Parts: sequence; C-alpha cells; structure tokens
Amino acid sequence: MFDSHAHLQDGKLKNDLENVLKRARDAGVARITCIGYDLESSQEAVGLARKFKQVYATVGVHPHDAKTMNPEVKEKLKNLARDPKVVAIGEIGLDYYRDLSPREKQKEAFIEQILLAQEIGKPIVIHDRDANQDVMEIIKKYKAGKNGGIMHCYSGNLPLAMEAVQNGFYISFAGPLTYKNARRSHEVVVKVPMERLLVETDCPYLTPEPLRGRINEPANVRYTVEKMAALRNQHPDEVAYLTERNACKVYRIKD
Ligand code: NI
Repeated sequence: MFDSHAHLQDGKLKNDLENVLKRARDAGVARITCIGYDLESSQEAVGLARKFKQVYATVGVHPHDAKTMNPEVKEKLKNLARDPKVVAIGEIGLDYYRDLSPREKQKEAFIEQILLAQEIGKPIVIHDRDANQDVMEIIKKYKAGKNGGIMHCYSGNLPLAMEAVQNGFYISFAGPLTYKNARRSHEVVVKVPMERLLVETDCPYLTPEPLRGRINEPANVRYTVEKMAALRNQHPDEVAYLTERNACKVYRIKD
C-alpha cells in the first residue's frame, strides 16, 4: 500500500516515528508521502524523506497558512523542491470552511504555487474545502493538472471528481470513506476510473472506522483500502496494488 498523504512531522507522530513506521511496514504500507503545509513543516518533511527510504515529501503552503507566503518563503520552497525525494508541491489550495487566511491571499498563494510546480515540472497536491468552484476555476485557468495532481481527502460530488480527472487529477480518499454517512463519497469511489484512485490517511487526523477517536497513522490506510475494495467489489489486495501503482505514477516514483 501507499499512504499518499501523511503528516509524519506532526508532534503526535514524530516523537514515536520509528514505531509508527514499523507498524506501517508490518501492515503492508511500503511507501508514505509526508506532506508539508508551511515552510517549517516542508523542511521537516524533506528531512524525513532523506532519512527514511520509504518516505517521500511534498513542500508547500496550505491555505490556512497562506498569510505566511512571501517571496523569501517561495524561494526557500523552490530550493527544497529540487530535492529528488520531493515528489510534489503541496498541500496547496483553498479552504473557505475555516477561512484562516483571507480568501484573496489564499488564491494568490495557490496560484503562485501552481506556477512554481510548473516551473520545476512537478505535480501538485490540492486541499479544497468548501471552495469547489474557485478551485476548479483556477485549475482550468492555469492548467494546474499539466504535470498531474491529486485532489486530497476528496469529499465532493461525482461531476466535480470527473471534471478533476479530465483535467489531469487523481482522486484520493482518506478515513472518512469508512464512515457510514459518507454516501456521496461511496458513489464517487465506484464511478471514478480505478486508474485515478488513491488512498491516504491524512494522519494524525481523520482516523478511519473502527479506530475513530484515536490518533491516526499510516498503518491505518488499510481500512480505507478495504472499504474501497468492498464498495467496488474488488479484492483488497488488488485495490492495494493498484492504488500503490497509481500513487507511484502521479508522484513519478520509478524504483
Ligand atoms: Ni493534509
């Protein structure tokens, strides 16, 4: 399995990281992408990717932190992004649910980082919460899926998912797929072509059933794989294999 989106640098995980990674390996999680959300967490993600063979990194400024984006931060992200183990720019996007940065600033940081990804020729990881329309408008206007990309922790509807697929994106599902009330996502998982599906934990957040309430970690991605397999009427091993292959493809991991 490939946990395509984890925050291993989070305080809840990093202090016990050797054990977290061992449990992941024991559960069959062969690769993990550690996702940055501001400059410091991006630097930490790259550090972990350099230290652990099975860990890859992304660098970027999350919409929550868009207000921290400036030319100096951008230059540092660009330098970090040249590391061969940096597999994407992210997570970037828009979050109109929490609005922790002004919306105009969120858009500006999102667009700047799309252009940065294009400049260095790497894919992007998108965070979209309650901002579907603006995210899709920007994706189309700037051809943001040119080098591929991921709609992370997808919770939108089917037409939007198909539009994202047509624009070069993969659709990634996290723990909420295992929740009973996630009917809309259950429909999307069945209809999106298998070759565009990914799984992730977004740990330490979004713990799947039956472990809800506990700190999430990469080993738990198997619950999302199992749910996806049940919904699609496929064997879990097949879904594990195919989603890993998809993640390697979008992140351009060859070995
Ligand atoms: Ni995340």
